Amino acid sequence: MTTVRDVREMAGSTPITMLTAYDATTARVANDAGIDVLLVGDSVGNTDLGYDSTLPVTADDIASRTAAVARGAEDALVVADMPFLSVGVDDAESVRNCGRMVKEADADAVKLESGPHTVELTERLVELGVPVMAHLGLTPQRMKETGYGRQGTTRDEAHEILDLARKHEDAGAFALVLEHVPANLAAQVTDALSIPTIGIGAGGDCDGQVLVVDDVLGLSERSPPFAARFGDLRSEMLDAVSDYREAVESGDFPAEEHGHTADELDELY
Ligand code: KIV
Ligand code: NA
Repeated sequence: MTTVRDVREMAGSTPITMLTAYDATTARVANDAGIDVLLVGDSVGNTDLGYDSTLPVTADDIASRTAAVARGAEDALVVADMPFLSVGVDDAESVRNCGRMVKEADADAVKLESGPHTVELTERLVELGVPVMAHLGLTPQRMKETGYGRQGTTRDEAHEILDLARKHEDAGAFALVLEHVPANLAAQVTDALSIPTIGIGAGGDCDGQVLVVDDVLGLSERSPPFAARFGDLRSEMLDAVSDYREAVESGDFPAEEHGHTADELDELY
């Protein structure tokens, strides 16, 4: 069982591998492949749920997906990604929404898209026993304001990210995701912190990397410029489903070996 302490201690030594997962089947595969951390990302909105952003994803969506991933992940750390407006509206509700991911959905930690408004919340959650992964740089829940472009490209923005990174480390976050920021900024943040940084579109100097599993498997129809593909599952699925359709239409399926023969049916009555 990977713990948040294990992940924290990997900073500066072993590269941390993190991948999103939204269901038990994928979680089992990623777990068997030795992935350290499974993130039940609100990117499930873009992938399985078919929305064109993460904004409509609910805490119920994440709780149900997290419970499934936790059932499939024997060794990997399971992190529930808190969706848009599930934190920040109201202090008590924020704590309860995060807490339920651990209490009801068996998450090991939550991830918060971080900002000035999550420093105190992070401290409170850690105090209560809910481990927190922070997330700075591109935070897609703010896309209406920021778009999906690279963040931290001006001196002021870079300073703000570094400052918020330090504040979240001080508040007790056990790791920090850095999304779509210049590689030299990510390297600087990684140097400045003792907790691990986990990059996506943030260069090679972070303590770990994370990608969306649909991008890795080659299931996505569109993926961000920094995503990498390690498989071509979409075309394999297309072939398998097309072969099935053709076999039904041609009468090749079902064949005798696929079902009851007339003799077996006679035995039932
Ligand atoms: O939701 C998600 O998949 C994420 C990762 C890209 C970090 O937040
Ligand atoms: Na996310």
